[in-house]
Amino acid sequence: MTNLQEKITAIFPETSQIPEQFQIQPLHQREYLVGGEMRQWAGATQDVYSPIFVKNGDKFESILIGSYPITDEAEAMEALDAAMRAYDNGRGEWPTMSLIERITCMENFLKKMLEKKTEIVNLLMYEIGKSLADSIKEFDRTIEYIYDTIDCLKDIDRNSSRFKIEQGIIGQIRRSPLGVVLCMGPFNYPLNETFCTLIPAIIMGNTILFKPPKHGTLLHYPLLKAFQECFPKGVVNTIYGRGANVVPPLMQTGKINVLTLIGSSKVANDLKKMHPKLNRLRAVLGLDAKNAGIILKNADVELAVKECILGSLSFNGQRCTAIKIIWVHRSIAKKFLNRFTEELEKLKFGMPWESGVNLTPLPEPNKPTYLAECIADAKANGADVINEGGGTTINSFVYPAVLYPVNEKMKVYSEEQFGPIVPVVPFDDVEEPIQYIINSSHGQQVSIFGTNPDQIAHLIDPLVNQVSRVNINAQCQRGPDTFPFTGRKDSAEGTLSVEDALRAFSIRTVVATKDTDANKKIFNEIVEEHSSHFLSTKYVF
Ligand code: G3H
Repeated sequence: MTNLQEKITAIFPETSQIPEQFQIQPLHQREYLVGGEMRQWAGATQDVYSPIFVKNGDKFESILIGSYPITDEAEAMEALDAAMRAYDNGRGEWPTMSLIERITCMENFLKKMLEKKTEIVNLLMYEIGKSLADSIKEFDRTIEYIYDTIDCLKDIDRNSSRFKIEQGIIGQIRRSPLGVVLCMGPFNYPLNETFCTLIPAIIMGNTILFKPPKHGTLLHYPLLKAFQECFPKGVVNTIYGRGANVVPPLMQTGKINVLTLIGSSKVANDLKKMHPKLNRLRAVLGLDAKNAGIILKNADVELAVKECILGSLSFNGQRCTAIKIIWVHRSIAKKFLNRFTEELEKLKFGMPWESGVNLTPLPEPNKPTYLAECIADAKANGADVINEGGGTTINSFVYPAVLYPVNEKMKVYSEEQFGPIVPVVPFDDVEEPIQYIINSSHGQQVSIFGTNPDQIAHLIDPLVNQVSRVNINAQCQRGPDTFPFTGRKDSAEGTLSVEDALRAFSIRTVVATKDTDANKKIFNEIVEEHSSHFLSTKYVF
């Protein structure tokens, strides 16, 4: 065994060595939420194994942290019926409720969610191997997102609380819900990214079918009661089980009004095509990405290394916004790679609860094999693993591999590795990475590292028409959440941000009349009597 293998093996503890506050009791979920009822499930269940292995004698075993129902098509259809009943063609309690009442429901939910913080953070660590610090960050960022969403909605509403008079027409323009939303989130941000679509969809007055991600299901269980207690029955309904069994039948009914999915473009494409009336379906999608870092000849190498380490290896490279390929000018490639590998070696690896840990076990059981294939393929096509021990795999942990020089024959050149592999391509002419981005099927973000304002300006102009965010001397990232987050080509459909998400899950609707005395009298009476929630000049503070 090499020194590194020994060190990696040593990160997996014996059960007794896990600090007491991070010990986990298996959570066997047998309930699911439909039509405001917690239903008991007596059918098949899915065991959930953690990426955290523990040492048992000479062996390592993955910890069984719980199980959840594998519900089927019948339960999915029941959930759909419940969501449709709650929406009731837009006449249900929730879609017609006043905004202030909907906000009050959401604030209650927020309070109950805060009570579950410790439990959810612990489950985040155990289900997806996210470090304690990042799990706390994910929880807190989600709470902040909900507060910001409420504030933003109040702002939107205040701006809609007045009448417009144009060309003899009086109108009031507000946003209305769209109907039944099918919401599916990703495993890498199972709470945050799911809630960044779920919460705006709910608060805009839609009713929801919520399918938690495959890895990251249990952590939603502590919130089911809060969903049940805080919203009218049928507003939030949960779906479990195999996506391939339960989601297609739902889409084929044509009764889903919005599909929101953070996942793969292939799945999104396939699902959309199943809807019999595509014009009735809105899609809000966050999909694949292969963001490039471009390090120019005159770049500040120290800064580029720092940002590229964060960009490519935070949460083991499992971020949709991760830098997944680095283009470096040949003249500084050696210097960059030396410093990059030096900094990589300083990254602490270990169990998620360890303080300062950067690299942790991977939640997808097949990922180590896939990453090994990528490395073997790159080697067969002329690249080396240039950092010592790169790719070393013990149980669910894969030590990052820096591959150089990468070329177009290799999988890692075009495939989204979504893991701890850093492909680096040398270039002589900046036109090479530009052509790469043009020909890529992805178009989320890019990071440019350089010091010459003229050269940077000449790159910004073509690249803003290829991707949706150009980062200068900074890693790619989603935040701040008030900035628009989207992508071109196969990377996204629709835009998310605190405000954009509220727009994505609603439609502008107008109540209008001709500017006559009789009509004005009717409008005035409705407003004075507060007899409509829509036609109203009431301010929400
Ligand atoms: O996986 C995609 C996430 O939305 C990325 O968010 O850039 O803040 O890590 P982040």
